[in-house]
Amino acid sequence: MDNLKSQLESTISRLESIDDLKKLQEIRVSYLGKSGFITQEMRNLKDLSQEKKQQVAKELNEMKNLLVSVLDARDVELQNKEIEKKLQREAIDITLPSREIKRGKIHLISHVLNEIVEIFGNMGFGVEYGAHVEDDFHNFDALNIDENHPARQNHDTFYMKHPSEGASLLRTHTSTVQIRTMSKSKPPFKFISPGRVYRCDSDQTHTPMFHQVEGVLIDDGIDMGHLKGCLKEFLHAFFGDKKIEIRFRPHFFPFTEPSAEVDISMDGGNKWLEILGCGMVHPNVLKNVGLDSNAHQGFAFGMGVERLAMLKYDIEDLRTFFDGDKRCSAKHGVDFHRIPKLIWGLNK
Ligand code: PHE
Repeated sequence: MDNLKSQLESTISRLESIDDLKKLQEIRVSYLGKSGFITQEMRNLKDLSQEKKQQVAKELNEMKNLLVSVLDARDVELQNKEIEKKLQREAIDITLPSREIKRGKIHLISHVLNEIVEIFGNMGFGVEYGAHVEDDFHNFDALNIDENHPARQNHDTFYMKHPSEGASLLRTHTSTVQIRTMSKSKPPFKFISPGRVYRCDSDQTHTPMFHQVEGVLIDDGIDMGHLKGCLKEFLHAFFGDKKIEIRFRPHFFPFTEPSAEVDISMDGGNKWLEILGCGMVHPNVLKNVGLDSNAHQGFAFGMGVERLAMLKYDIEDLRTFFDGDKRCSAKHGVDFHRIPKLIWGLNK
C-alpha cells in the first residue's frame, strides 16, 4: 500500500512532463485498467478485516480520484495542444493572391457554325450530319458529276482507296448529305448540314480541310424565288449590322439546274467575294434518290463557313483558323456564355 502510494506520487509528478496522449492512456490503464495497480488492490480488499477494509478502501478511493482528476486535466491539455499544432500545420495564407483562371473560348468556326444553325433553325430547317469518309457514289455519281468532271481528278480529292477498288474518299463537299438524307426518307425535306470537307489544296486562300453548310428544301411548288429569298434573309441576319450587298451570278453545278453563285460586297459594290453556290436540285439527283422529278422540286445550296467567318469578323488570313495558335482563339474566340442569339429579319 505505501509502496503504491509513493509510486502513484511519482507517476503524478511525471504526468506533467508527458506530452503524448498515448502514454497518458498507458498510465491510465496501468492503474485503473482491469489488472491495473489500483484495481488489483481493490480486489484484495476482501481478504482484509472489516476495520482495515474500510480504511484501505477509503485511501484507495482517494488515490483513484486524485489520479483520475490529474489524468483528465492533462488529457484536455494535451488534446488542445494537438489541435493547435494541427491548426498551425494546416494554416492557409489567405493574403496570397489567387491564381489566374485561364478560361477557354469557343473557336470562331464553331461559333459561326452555331450562328448559321440558329438562323436556319429559326427558318424551320432541321440539321443533318453525314460521314466524312464517303464513296464515289455519294460524293460524285449520285450528284450527277460524271467521270470526266475535274473535281474527280486525284489532285482535288483525297482518295483512301483507288477508284478501281471501290473508292473510299474524304468528302469534297457536304452535298453527300443531300443524297444520304433524301434516300432514307420522303419529302418534304428542309434541312441544313454543317460539317468538314476535304480537298487536296493548300495555299493562302485554301486549306485541305474546311467547313461547309449544305442546305436543302424540297417541297411542292418551290422555285428560284424562294431560294433567293431564303438566302438573302439568311445573309442579312448573319451579317447583322454590317452593310452588305448581294449578287446572284449564273453558274454551273452538275447537281443543280439552273445554278448560281452568290457574291457579297461590303464596300458598296467595288469588290465582290464568292461565298456560296446554289440552284434548283437537278432532276437526275432527284431520280438518284428515288424521287419522281415531275412531282417534286426544290433548291439546294452550299456555303463556305471560313469565308463567312472571315468577312463577318474581319479575319485576313484563312490559316489563322487552323494553325493552333492559342493567341488566335484568345483574340477571335468567343466566350462560352455568348450563345448566339441573332434576330432573324422576319421576326423583327
Ligand atoms: N457542293 C458545291 C461546292 O462544294 C456547293 C453547292 C451545293 C452548289 C449545293 C449548289 C448546290 O462547291
